[in-house]
Amino acid sequence: MMDSLDARRGFAVDVALRAGALALGMHRTLAPIEAKSAIDFCTEADRAVEQLVRQEIAERFGDAVIGEEYGGKAANRVWVVDPIDGTAGYIHGTKRWCVSLAYVWRGEIEIGVIYAPADDRLFVAQRGRGATLNGRPIQVSGLRHGAAPVIELGWSERRPLSAYCTLLQRLTDAGFEFRRHGSGALGLAEVACGLNDGYAELHINAWDALAGLLLVREAGGWTNDFLADDGLRHGNLLLAATPALGDRLAAMTQDLHQAAGQPAALAG
Ligand code: IPD
Ligand code: CA
Repeated sequence: MMDSLDARRGFAVDVALRAGALALGMHRTLAPIEAKSAIDFCTEADRAVEQLVRQEIAERFGDAVIGEEYGGKAANRVWVVDPIDGTAGYIHGTKRWCVSLAYVWRGEIEIGVIYAPADDRLFVAQRGRGATLNGRPIQVSGLRHGAAPVIELGWSERRPLSAYCTLLQRLTDAGFEFRRHGSGALGLAEVACGLNDGYAELHINAWDALAGLLLVREAGGWTNDFLADDGLRHGNLLLAATPALGDRLAAMTQDLHQAAGQPAALAG
């Protein structure tokens, strides 16, 4: 099986690089944007990138795919794909967006690849084999910087803004700094390489989270059990941090993540 995991890892890197280049190239000719909600958008590039990735997976391995734009069903071997994570940043011309690919085998995240083409950052993780950024091993911060911990706090309309504000208050009361940059996948990748000390979001979908979760774990970090309670299909609370902060983030969020909202259900 290791051979086939190695093959899938190499494939994931290759496809992520090509998918990122496609999205970068399409930015110049961006067609009118479709709004899924007031803060959730889809561009032609999101669709084109997901189609490219789906076609490549079908031709090479025939594995199942779950993607943000076209849905899909879970299977023993399944790729979980966000063609562009941080679509709002992509539309606005920032560099903070990425392609995120995860390969899940028998319920375990085995491979995670995140590529941010606008600043050419390639994050790769394989379960039990560590995590890298542009080929160099990465590690979570361990709070070695000695400054206030920085937590990226993600939000979407799937959970009430009031719950997000309560969490913000708790973080600042605890002496934490906070950020929100608009890509859950990159937020996790930045925990993995120590630029942030943690990432929290009260509900996020699997395509935003799985590759980054593996990166954090393989970089020595702590994460919650995102795939519990059918997180693959319905999304879940997402917590990831340098190990010293895991319990504190879990305590701050345990009464908030079930707050009334509109969890997304997968098509298909
Ligand atoms: C969103 C981003 C955002 C997170 C949301 C996601 P999209 O994905 O990852 O940071 O807070 O939960 O839906 O719409 O940019 O692909
Ligand atoms: Ca996304």
